[in-house]
Amino acid sequence: MEDNFIQFEYKKLSETDLIKNSGTFLEQMSNRRTIREFSTEIVPEEVIVNIVKAASTAPSGGNAQPFLFCIVKDKETKHKIRNGAEKEEKLNYEKRYSDDFKKKVSKFKVTWEKPFLDDAPYLIVVFKEKYKKTGDLIQKNNYFTESTGIAMGLLVASIHNAGLVTVPYSPAPMNFLSEILDIPENLSPVLVFPVGYPKEGTKVPNLKKKKFEEMYKVY
Ligand SMILES: Cc1cc2nc3c(=O)[nH]c(=O)nc-3n(C[C@H](O)[C@H](O)[C@H](O)COP(=O)(O)O)c2cc1C
Repeated sequence: MEDNFIQFEYKKLSETDLIKNSGTFLEQMSNRRTIREFSTEIVPEEVIVNIVKAASTAPSGGNAQPFLFCIVKDKETKHKIRNGAEKEEKLNYEKRYSDDFKKKVSKFKVTWEKPFLDDAPYLIVVFKEKYKKTGDLIQKNNYFTESTGIAMGLLVASIHNAGLVTVPYSPAPMNFLSEILDIPENLSPVLVFPVGYPKEGTKVPNLKKKKFEEMYKVY
């Protein structure tokens, strides 16, 4: 069997540092909120690239790395994405969504209009790679949904860690994203993450969250 292993460099921390580091991260993540109103202020591109690089370090089933992050900064392309999304959203709100669904999301005060797709200086559009195609050879990626989900979790944490905000936005249907960004059919769009600074004075819904005790068990 081929042996192609390298040394894993590991520095063991003290229990005090473990507790301190995990507590600091917890406190930081506890302040994260979804933001739907963005400032148009420019963010250094290096920050966005660092955020995406951090997300791209995610573990993945069989090391397939079945994710693609499209960073969109071009105003015209962002506007095309807004138009594509709003065309679908208008139909959703006027014809496709049930009254029950609309009532459920009313606490977020969302409508078919999505100005954040123009306002945020960057959109990160995430695609999951269902299979790899080399000539006629098709190789399915195992766990592409789970792997891309983990990468998007890292993306959200990295955006927050950098001091910026986002909304994980899921237009439906979203195949217009593949058309605008010219992405082949072995990849499917998953979510759009507008990234930037929050609009000054923006408010967030006062959501009722589950108690932590309802979300974990120790065995
Ligand atoms: C998979 C996923 C899809 C989402 N889709 C949308 C969306 O299309 N529009 C939107 O305004 N928020 C969307 N959100 C944001 C959620 O509404 C938000 O995370 C939730 O209300 C909790 O609020 P918080 O992030 O401030 O804790 C989505 C979040 C996730 C994880």
